[in-house]
Amino acid sequence: VTSSPLVRRFSDARRDPELAVLEGFHAVKHALRFGAEMLETVATDVDEVQRLADGLAEDLATVLPGMVVQIPPEVLAALAPRAPRTGVMAIARRPQIDVRTMLSDPREAPIVLLEDPRNMTNVGASIRVAAAADAAGVLTTGDNDPWSPDALRGAAGLHFAQPVARIDELPSTERPLVAVDPGGDPLRPSALPSRAILAFGTERYGLSDELLARADVRVRIPMKPGVSSLNLATSVAAVLYGCPTS
Ligand SMILES: C[S@@+](CC[C@H](N)C(=O)[O-])C[C@H]1O[C@@H](n2cnc3c(N)ncnc32)[C@H](O)[C@@H]1O
Repeated sequence: VTSSPLVRRFSDARRDPELAVLEGFHAVKHALRFGAEMLETVATDVDEVQRLADGLAEDLATVLPGMVVQIPPEVLAALAPRAPRTGVMAIARRPQIDVRTMLSDPREAPIVLLEDPRNMTNVGASIRVAAAADAAGVLTTGDNDPWSPDALRGAAGLHFAQPVARIDELPSTERPLVAVDPGGDPLRPSALPSRAILAFGTERYGLSDELLARADVRVRIPMKPGVSSLNLATSVAAVLYGCPTS
């Protein structure tokens, strides 16, 4: 099984910066719904894909099952470290993201900036909530790829619903930079500037001194005394839902 061409293609795609490996029905559903170019879609049970689509994705019910190539469960198990319970996986092409175009989105909606995030589940959950809140996009710094299969799984494929990109550093921009940091002033959602870049720090150490110094505003999410911090993705959700997005 492990030497089959299909297994090799999925294995190569996991490391290919132009491709996205989608694990699970919801990731495949969202990618397709938001316009992904699907290159290869497989599942262990096409009838089950039809049932899932009928129940959870009526808009795709006449499209998705017809795209699927049925494979045995032992082949699916070789395509991912943890085979998805729904038995569905795909390879899609990543969209080209232009960071300047993201930054110049004229809507009031903020951009989420994750500084050097380490945990891909947090990255995925942040991307998922940014899509739900209709943010203008998500940027990450540091070495980790926000399009990694684990981040795509955590985001249920919602990378395709908004621009998502890794950058070396934040380019100069007229957008106000808001540092979301436990040492900031208490958050008043109505006082957040529109078109903000909301910067969140790395899981263990928080925001860097450089980013804190560059910020126009620093805000903290109030917490009960004794609680040191919120989880990264949870803090993204708490702040995003107070922001203007129209
Ligand atoms: C797990 S926290 C990092 C904790 C780190 N020890 C610190 O003091 O910043 C990861 C990120 O979530 C955000 N965060 C978590 N709790 C927060 C709070 N109460 N107020 C503001 N930001 C918070 C910040 O952006 C933080 O850098």
